[in-house]
Amino acid sequence: MTDKSKIAVLISGAGTNMAALVYASRIGDCPYEVVLVASNDAQAPGLALAAAEGIATFAHPHKGMTREAHDAAMEDAVRQAGADYIVLAGYMRILSDGFVERWQGRMLNIHPSLLPLYKGLDTHARAIAAGDTHGGTSVHLVTPELDAGEVLAQVRVPIVADDTPESLAERVKLAEHQLYPRAVAECVSRWRDPAALLARLRALALALPESDERESHGSPGFRVGGEKTGKYFAYFADQHHGTPHIALLARTGSMDELLNLVESQPDVYFKPAYYGASGWVGIILNRPGVDWDEVAEWLHRSWRSVAPKRLTRMMDIADEF
Ligand code: GAR
Repeated sequence: MTDKSKIAVLISGAGTNMAALVYASRIGDCPYEVVLVASNDAQAPGLALAAAEGIATFAHPHKGMTREAHDAAMEDAVRQAGADYIVLAGYMRILSDGFVERWQGRMLNIHPSLLPLYKGLDTHARAIAAGDTHGGTSVHLVTPELDAGEVLAQVRVPIVADDTPESLAERVKLAEHQLYPRAVAECVSRWRDPAALLARLRALALALPESDERESHGSPGFRVGGEKTGKYFAYFADQHHGTPHIALLARTGSMDELLNLVESQPDVYFKPAYYGASGWVGIILNRPGVDWDEVAEWLHRSWRSVAPKRLTRMMDIADEF
């Protein structure tokens, strides 16, 4: 059995970044494997290389199709290959919102500029024309807005005298080939990395008014209401009591609610040892595709259930705007 994450790489052209991803996956204990290389152009040179490497390929030209229909064909191939992540590597198509939203947090792109600078096309020419000292490349999560998702990693590449867009593009690609495999490896590992999950949870919990962090029975806990009278509204549980879960423990309204959640979505919720008896639910964080907005809502709700009135009143007023 392999616990490597499965990635599908989408290309439109040469596919040198795809090749870098493939070769990196063959070295040491890389946390991902490439299960599919797909293209909107059957002639894309990268397809032949992938096939020669024994990787499944898929090509579907977009001509004469709506964007949604073409995306659906690509997504179908990706799902059939069993991919957990979609990695865009020079895939020169704008994707429909629905497609992007279904893969939120699990779709990455590499863009040849230092984002947020120069979204879109002709990035190198624009950097040179602006007199920039550096161009570069960015790996980012894909969101419906073009080239605007969270930047995961960047490399700067100096612009030298007499650089042309072509000469700069070539050097930027060298940097991309180093950066992309690393950034993908980090991203696919992030969902099960306790330190990364805690950091993300902590940022959300401490953003709530007057919350602080205090350890409780060896676990990070988050409280509201001050030094003396503060109450816990959340705990971070890392594989407690023999469970494989890394989880947020939050307060529910009742035991009924807790049991309903666990029964209807057992891959998301569980009843934690000890805390479960007092109505705390476990929200599993070490699973791909966690909806962090939902985690934030749980924190907010749990915070609200124990926060002093003067704070919840302030929140109510703020919520009205
Ligand atoms: C790469 O430089 C990539 O950053 C860029 O296309 C090139 C693909 O090269 N992507 C974009 O411009 C996306 N907007 P490759 O086919 O050799 O990997």
